[in-house]
Amino acid sequence: MQIHIFTLFPQMCVGPFGESIIARAVARGLLTIHLHQFRDYTHDRHHTVDDAQYGGGPGMVLKPEPLFEAVESVVGAPPSCPVVLLTPQGKVFSQAHAKRLSAQPAIALICGHYGGVDERIREHLATEELSIGDYVLSGGELAAMVVVDAVARLVPGVLGDEESAGEDSHATGILQHPLYTRPAQFRDWPVPDVLLSGDHQAVAKWRRRQALLRTLARRPDLLENAALTDEERRWLEEGKARFCSP
Ligand SMILES: C[S@@+](CC[C@H](N)C(=O)[O-])C[C@H]1O[C@@H](n2cnc3c(N)ncnc32)[C@H](O)[C@@H]1O
Repeated sequence: MQIHIFTLFPQMCVGPFGESIIARAVARGLLTIHLHQFRDYTHDRHHTVDDAQYGGGPGMVLKPEPLFEAVESVVGAPPSCPVVLLTPQGKVFSQAHAKRLSAQPAIALICGHYGGVDERIREHLATEELSIGDYVLSGGELAAMVVVDAVARLVPGVLGDEESAGEDSHATGILQHPLYTRPAQFRDWPVPDVLLSGDHQAVAKWRRRQALLRTLARRPDLLENAALTDEERRWLEEGKARFCSP
């Protein structure tokens, strides 16, 4: 998969992409990450990328010309891949977005900065807008890195079997079951007996029940669309009675 990031601060992305799973995927040729400095696409003496907003007010606005030229020269016009504008006004990024984007051969990400981007970038250059949450960052770079990390780990081959994303929270639509490793006894806190039993069926049942109860306690909204067996519904009814008892 090819990932194009359009930014005024490419160095911000170098450290995070040079470590761990992303770096390994790049080394293995599963991902290529291109950092495009869109200031290089200006033609004036001062390499101007921003200007005051029409109508007055605080915050410099990123001009359309350098970003249009940068993005169109790399991914074409119309674009050959999704062009994502990172913005706090976008749809809130979720595992479903990550999964959809991970199936693309290429994606482009536009990082705003300062007061934001000229509206024509949003309307006529971006094909979609994503936010990483209801707060405002200084720039889109951290948001782009969040999106790239979540997308990259779903690209086939990027995670080894041991790191498989299939059981992760949200991958299954609910939260993951609790995780334990050695030692079996740490201070006063033992690992649940069932996990040491060697009974794979019992372990799977315990994990499913814990995952459902944990989701009920922390994110009951996720259960609205969950496909449940009768037994699982009963677990949840018992859980509700327990959580709601005075
Ligand atoms: C200071 S923000 C501008 C916010 C803009 N004035 C607004 O109210 O919508 C600068 C840039 O940071 C990025 N950004 C800020 N918060 C974000 C978020 N929650 N998700 C994604 N990108 C964000 C966007 O690229 C944005 O153009």
